[in-house]
Formats: sequence, structure tokens, C-alpha cells
Amino acid sequence: MARIIGTGSFMPRSVISNIEMEKYVETNDEWIRTRTGISQRHISMEDENTGDLGYGAALEALKDAGISPMDLDYIIVATTTPHSFVPTTSCYIQGKLGAMNAACLDINAACSGFIYGLELAESLLDKKDKQYILVIGAEVLSKIVDYNDRSTCVLFGDGAGAAVLKKGEGIKGIVTGADGTKGAYLNTGDFKVRNLLTGSNESDNMLTMEGKEVYKFAVQILPQAIRSSLLKSEMNVEDLDHIIPHQANIRIIEAAAKRLGIPMDKFFVNIQNTGNTSSASIAIALDEMNKKGLLKNGDKISMVGFGGGLTYGALTMVWNK
Ligand code: ACO
Repeated sequence: MARIIGTGSFMPRSVISNIEMEKYVETNDEWIRTRTGISQRHISMEDENTGDLGYGAALEALKDAGISPMDLDYIIVATTTPHSFVPTTSCYIQGKLGAMNAACLDINAACSGFIYGLELAESLLDKKDKQYILVIGAEVLSKIVDYNDRSTCVLFGDGAGAAVLKKGEGIKGIVTGADGTKGAYLNTGDFKVRNLLTGSNESDNMLTMEGKEVYKFAVQILPQAIRSSLLKSEMNVEDLDHIIPHQANIRIIEAAAKRLGIPMDKFFVNIQNTGNTSSASIAIALDEMNKKGLLKNGDKISMVGFGGGLTYGALTMVWNK
């Protein structure tokens, strides 16, 4: 049993519009907007690494929850683009917060990472000695985006979102899953094994994507995952007040809405301002809704994500802040 009692987000200060992207790759505002729904994205400067964005989001979430860093029992950071391999991004954030009672864990489920993180947090809160868990989705995707590849670089942005969870009634049902046979559709290439004897070289590990394959997976899995999590929660599609989807492409969200028979105005969309921020996207959207006062206690909410792996996850909850 777990409920969300606070949210936060933090975005890099530089914003790059579609028009500005035209300076870097052969693209245009009209193509990007009509194919994806994106108008701008935030891009990190050198002092805005993954842990710094996550820390900013964490501070806001703790303030919103009305608790102090020392109250935290656990910090889970979902990221595809960690601050460093060692120490983990969660340890980096814990140190900056001074959350010295918190255990720290990084996870990577690409764009489904925040949902995976909430699932882990919910399970941990079943333990007697855990009261408060901070789940963060933080990404500096610009580390792995190939700015020579117009088919991907226009899609992604940097940012972080966070939520504080506490024991209590809220989350009703979560489903997570993956299809590792489709890993090649969205990947950064293998990290090369650096062998002293053969002297093999390191690779750049930039992100490549087969957009059409990811699109096909997404439009099929989004409605399916929402339905499965509703089933677990003993709710129907009609019961939902809000759906917060991973912000990857407006056309994917529209297709999911059509398949589910849910009007688009129930789907929260902020992709126009953020682009695709992977693990951070659902957390940032949730925080925006919370800050704008769009969530009332008792509202029934579905959050749904899909991403590299390929992975997916959906969660149904009753807002009880
Ligand atoms: N600007 C202008 N033209 C472009 C651009 C661009 N940025 N990118 C591609 N094009 C061109 C292509 O070269 C192609 O030209 P051609 O017909 O002369 O060959 C044309 O536009 C159409 O390209 P398609 O790839 O067929 O475009 P499509 O309509 O499929 O849209 C897109 C591409 C937006 C990537 C789509 O496939 C998609 O949304 N897929 C899902 C991607 C996604 O959601 N990824 C992230 C999910 S996972 C995660 O979040 C990490």
C-alpha cells in the first residue's frame, strides 16, 4: 500500500525551439510539430548533469510532501543516462540532500523507468521499517543523442521529475513488462569490452532508433497495459479521470486514446514543451498537473509508459495527497 504525497520537477535552463534545431540539422518546425507534437526541449549545460536535475526535483518533492531529507528511507532513481556509473545517481543525490537514513538504488527501464520505480517503492513500503520513499526519474539524454541524426535528435530533451511515496491508500494496481527480443529497435550499441590483449576500442554509444517499429509497439502496448492495470485495480476505462502517458509522440497518445475509446482531453500532454525526457517524462507531467491544481483527492489516474528494452509499465491510482 502506497500513496504519493508530494511531487517535484526540475528542468535545465536552456530551451531549444524547433526553429533553433534548424541550425543544427536539416529539419523544420512544421515537420517536428506535425509528426511528434514537440515545439521545444530543454538541454543541459555542463553544470546540469543527471544528479543535479534529480536533486532539484527531489527538493521540490520533499517540500511538497512536507518532510525533510532525513525522513527518507529509500531513494530510487530511474535513469538511462546516469550522472556516473559509480557512484550511482541516487547516492549522488542522497549526499547532496543529506538524506543519510536513505538506502539508494539506481534502476534503468528506459522510458518506463518511473513506473518501474513506483512499483519497487510500493513493494518496499510493505516493510515495517519503511515510511517514506523518494522516486526520481532524471535524464540528460543529450549525452547519448546523436545531433547528426535528424530522425532522433529532434525528439529528446533533458529534465527530472520526482515523487515522495508514503504508506497508505492510493496505488491500486501496477503492471510492468518487457520484450527483450525487440531491444535493437532503440539502442545505444553495446559497451565494448576493453580487452588489454586485443586493444579493442571504445565506441561512442549514441542512440539509434527504428522509429516505425517503436511506434507499432507503443500503439499496441499502451492500451493493453492500461487495461491490465485497470483489471488489477478493479476499475474500468470509464472510471478514469486522467491518463498521464509517457510523452514520446502526440500521435502515439492519440492512437492510444482512440483504441481505448477515451477522449483526448483526459490525456495530459506537455510534450510540446519538454520533448521526450524518457524516465523523467511521466514524473514531470505528474508534477505539472499537481502544481496546476488539476488533481483532486479521489481522482482516478492511470500512468503509462513504454521505451527502450523494449519495456512497458502502467499504474492505476486514486489521488490521495
Ligand atoms: N525533419 C525533417 N524530416 C525528417 C526528420 C526531421 N527531423 N526526421 C526524419 N525525416 C524525414 C525522413 O528522412 C523521411 O524522409 P524520406 O521520406 O525522404 O525518406 C520522412 O521524414 C519520413 O520519415 P519517417 O521515419 O517515415 O517518419 P514517421 O512518420 O515514421 O515519423 C517518428 C518518425 C516521429 C520517429 C515516428 O516513427 C515515431 O514517433 N516513432 C516512435 C518513436 C518514439 O516514440 N520513440 C521514443 C520512444 S522510446 C523512448 O521514449 C526512449
